[in-house]
Amino acid sequence: MMTLNQMDRRIPVPLSAHMALHQKANMRAYLEAVQAIIAALPGKDFAAVSHAASSMGFSAATAQMCRKMGAGAQGFAEQAIGFHRSASAIAAAAQNRNTQAVLQRLGDTLRQCTTCHTTYRQQVVTDPAFQRLLERLQASP
Ligand code: HEC
Repeated sequence: MMTLNQMDRRIPVPLSAHMALHQKANMRAYLEAVQAIIAALPGKDFAAVSHAASSMGFSAATAQMCRKMGAGAQGFAEQAIGFHRSASAIAAAAQNRNTQAVLQRLGDTLRQCTTCHTTYRQQVVTDPAFQRLLERLQASP
């Protein structure tokens, strides 16, 4: 019988169990942030939109975490960083109180979610195997 890993043709993102759980917890929080944005929009609560979007937004620390999570998967970190930048653009549109722009940027951001989900899947590896990927990442320029 084929294993799930053999049947799933998406690119594997090797992660330690701890990091895989952490990534999935982040993901559930992103879905909640999207929910909060949609809930706040009809009442034009731009502060709430901005707050929720910023929780997915770009920062240097976030970019570093993306590189860690993508240490063993070509292109993953770039895809992830693009997503965080796109979420920051939702927050900027909310700060300008521009509903149309919020919706456009939200659409861009959701496209980043779905593109990444179509392309990548988690693959849990041992802690030492993940450690070796991180060391390789640190060694590369
Ligand atoms: C850079 C890649 C990437 C981006 C961007 C991304 N995800 Fe994910 N997401 C993943 C991966 C990888 C998984 C694990 C999927 C698997 O192994 O089947 C995942 C899983 C999830 C899950 C399942 C969590 C669980 O507990 O099982 C949810 C929900 C989710 N993502 C929501 C989102 C939402 C909402 C967005 C955008 C607002 C988003 N993701 C953006 C890569 C991404």
